[in-house]
Amino acid sequence: MEPKLVKLNVNGRAHHTALTPNTTLLYALRDLGYTDVKSGCEKGDCGACGVMVDGTIINSCLLLAWLAEGREIITVAGLGTAENPHPLQKAFVDFGAAQCGYCIPGMILSAKALLDEHPQPTDEQIREALSGNLCRCTGYVRIFEAIQNVARGLTSPQPSRSQGEGASVPHHDQGAAATVPHPDQGEGATVPHHNQGEAASVPHHDQGAGVKIPLLDKEGLGEVSQ
Ligand code: FES
Ligand code: FES
Repeated sequence: MEPKLVKLNVNGRAHHTALTPNTTLLYALRDLGYTDVKSGCEKGDCGACGVMVDGTIINSCLLLAWLAEGREIITVAGLGTAENPHPLQKAFVDFGAAQCGYCIPGMILSAKALLDEHPQPTDEQIREALSGNLCRCTGYVRIFEAIQNVARGLTSPQPSRSQGEGASVPHHDQGAAATVPHPDQGEGATVPHHNQGEAASVPHHDQGAGVKIPLLDKEGLGEVSQ
């Protein structure tokens, strides 16, 4: 296929790049240097490749790059910087929500899309928003807590209930992750999570009625109707 010149607006910056028509947005972004967009399953199951397109979270592995031309694309790096992080980015750090970190860009962007639409989501809405994002490290509890606390206007861990009311000891093992056993480890295998083992059959929130952008079918051979 002949490459075509495509203009992609990413994190407020315009890129003119030559792409073959079958290039997915995932590969286009990574080739442009946006390696904060992660490649996982490449078939819409894991959410690692999540980006926001015109305010909607989508799996970039399922979208042809040229279909994003002229739209506003936001990757997780577009939310904030190390010096001035987005509250969600700060909370994920404060709560120790990232283990290997591979799922975190997609998780944070799913959370951002949720909070944009529902600034004070219910626990169920948080779970639903994350239902298309898989964490191989099974760190869902801390991810959930980080989002929940940002929604409550808090970005730092609060005293754990198990430490008693008014306890001054910070929740979790802040700054000591290497030596304190991780609470998620050893539990994830026995406590079923809505994200585990269901993702293949449960549609991601960006696949369905709310999506306005054509997506690839699973073989990447053409668009699917929505
Ligand atoms: S890499 Fe896109 S959903 Fe898994
Ligand atoms: S932190 Fe490792 S996959 Fe989620």
